[in-house]
Amino acid sequence: MNWLTEARFGLFVHWGIYAAAARHEWVKSYEQLTDADYQPYFDHFSPDLYDPVRWADDAWNAGMRYLVITTKHHDGFCLWDSKLTDYSAPNTPWGKDLLAPMVDAFRERGFRIGLYHSLLDWHHPEFPVDLYHPQRKDVDFIDRTADRDVSKYADYLHGQVRELLTGYGTIDVMWFDFSYADRGFNAKGPDEWRSSELLTMVRELQPGILVNNRLGLGSGDFTTPEQVQPPGNEVAAGEGTQVPWEACHTLNGSWGYHRDNHDWKSPALLIRMLVDAVSKGGNMLLNVGPNGRGAWEPRALDVLSGIGSWMRLHERSIRDCGPSTYVPPADCRYTQNGRRLYLHVFAWPMGHLHLPGLGDRVEYAQFLHDASEVKRVQVDPSAPGHTYLTGLPDNTLTLKLPNRAPDVDTCVIELFLKD
Ligand code: GLC
Repeated sequence: MNWLTEARFGLFVHWGIYAAAARHEWVKSYEQLTDADYQPYFDHFSPDLYDPVRWADDAWNAGMRYLVITTKHHDGFCLWDSKLTDYSAPNTPWGKDLLAPMVDAFRERGFRIGLYHSLLDWHHPEFPVDLYHPQRKDVDFIDRTADRDVSKYADYLHGQVRELLTGYGTIDVMWFDFSYADRGFNAKGPDEWRSSELLTMVRELQPGILVNNRLGLGSGDFTTPEQVQPPGNEVAAGEGTQVPWEACHTLNGSWGYHRDNHDWKSPALLIRMLVDAVSKGGNMLLNVGPNGRGAWEPRALDVLSGIGSWMRLHERSIRDCGPSTYVPPADCRYTQNGRRLYLHVFAWPMGHLHLPGLGDRVEYAQFLHDASEVKRVQVDPSAPGHTYLTGLPDNTLTLKLPNRAPDVDTCVIELFLKD
């Protein structure tokens, strides 16, 4: 587990033929497209700008240290050369496995490797139509396919996972998505996926692997709050037990490349989200949806480079850090790594910051981005101005701040604690 909580920041990649539709990875379901409607995206998929070495570089420079790649999404399209279907990258005009070069490039660059694999499959002939299926409203289709046998589909699912976990070296994370045992007709969960058997196989094939929580078997090795910032540790872990968690986030609300979506998060917001996650013991898995040519669009690269500039200066307050037992002042978050306590200031206050419980605990304080001292001041109620600084709890540390916030997205003050 150590590497995951040490890394704290990973890259999610959602990539498949839906990138060609360029209007969300759920487009087949949202627009209730038939296989025939969806086929042009397969027939024209030829990502000529695909350069996984460059992807790995861009992600590394943004500060990410592990990858989770969609091997197959709900549409059933496979990035790798599966022997169990011809609905895969080698059979598109591109003609080659897209997964192997990616895994190689990222591993080479120093990343841990995770595979996302959809439990749902809107292409497989034995996958019973359910409430998410594109043909959910097509009564004739449902009639015609009434004898679909989910156990045959589960055999296929298990067989494909076996291929993935035997053909690509050491896999660090298996990220299944998702279970809905109590939702509507032909609902599917651990019984339909045969999740326990699947999990046993996964652990046999890759003993060191971490498996997420979406098989319908409880919390897994880590939980995966999606597009939300959990309010605290306990909530994210569920049932009062602390398990590692990883909040997965989009850049703009869509996981797959979405050309006309302009609802982008700023680097500053994403940095605060990462800090917030780590301050609560969590990770952030941030998604990029490459386009149909296999490139990361300029909007995504700009955001990543903004995060990367911050990470270059502030990696110490994120990597290998976790929550602190100290309670931060308003608009701030603490992360901690042993005797280094990191105060992240989300909104710049005027003049002072008061840190309860730290009055006699701090040996030195500095801004992290430039290693310049931040003065600790003794509040002297008889001094001019300080008259108004009374009423602070005992043992509060007061820091003196410049009026102008340093020119970084989230300013971090590094506090060296006494032994
Ligand atoms: C979801 C969605 C999806 C996305 C994923 C990421 O449940 O189905 O499209 O891949 O979660 O967390």
